[in-house]
Amino acid sequence: MRSAKRQFVRITYLALLIRLNPKRAADAKTSASGTMGVMNDFTQDLLAQALAPRQVRYTPATGSTNDDAIAWLAEHPPQGSVVTSDEQHGGRGRLGRPWYAPAGSGLLLSVIAYPPREHLTRLTMVGALAVLDTLESYGIQQVGIKWPNDVRIDARKICGVLPEAAWDCERLVGAVLGIGLNVNIPFILTQYAETAISISDALGEPVDRLDTFKRLLARIDHWLANVHTPEIFETWKARLVTLGTQVTVQTPTGVRSGWAEDVTPEGGLLLRKSDGTLEQVIAGEIGV
Ligand code: BTN
Repeated sequence: MRSAKRQFVRITYLALLIRLNPKRAADAKTSASGTMGVMNDFTQDLLAQALAPRQVRYTPATGSTNDDAIAWLAEHPPQGSVVTSDEQHGGRGRLGRPWYAPAGSGLLLSVIAYPPREHLTRLTMVGALAVLDTLESYGIQQVGIKWPNDVRIDARKICGVLPEAAWDCERLVGAVLGIGLNVNIPFILTQYAETAISISDALGEPVDRLDTFKRLLARIDHWLANVHTPEIFETWKARLVTLGTQVTVQTPTGVRSGWAEDVTPEGGLLLRKSDGTLEQVIAGEIGV
């Protein structure tokens, strides 16, 4: 009882810190690893052993795991090789936005992939479906995908997916699938409770980060191996919560609005405009 009370006080304190000062919250959370119980301190050796024979590169902190993975592509590591870190100082999100997560509270990873060039844009499906499968493996329900790759539980975002490709002139050198997954962050007690969620929020208790990591990588392997199949598109389309709704999409070239009528096999969104025409949007973010 006494320790439960202390745990609650600790979480409330962290929640407050996350709201007031994310950097200090990260430090406090790292130092709280003993009380949280399942924080899993990652090390290079631990991950190399746990994820063998997969190649893994871990650092406690980095700029962006996507940048590190893109640099690694020059050495042509095998598909499925992964870069991970507990904290990013220059984490990147979609549309040039920053991506921040308190140190050690989630999973920040970038997986090396060599999809066929004609299915490169399906990496977005790989990321979304792998996270969705991982969540469902914990028995979490009400999971859906907001086009193109925001995995949501009851309209609350649980991860960010950022695929990027490296080119040598016209030649596709390779790609990286960046994923930031909220694992043990108590959003439920913060001002973000309506828009963000973590696995621990959904389950009511913290989870083992290494176990989550293994589950997620296994599902990424599965969908990467099936990236050329109709199954990946059909499964992704069936889990989209966006189709059949009126949407406003912020795209790299401006805002588009319309009825989300359908998606294309390579992931484009088909919008029925008010003048009756159909427009395809390749990349963007739907407003809430
Ligand atoms: C989004 O805006 O929703 C996508 C966010 C993607 C964040 C992840 S965290 C790991 C990887 N490294 C980065 O710099 N970004 C991605």
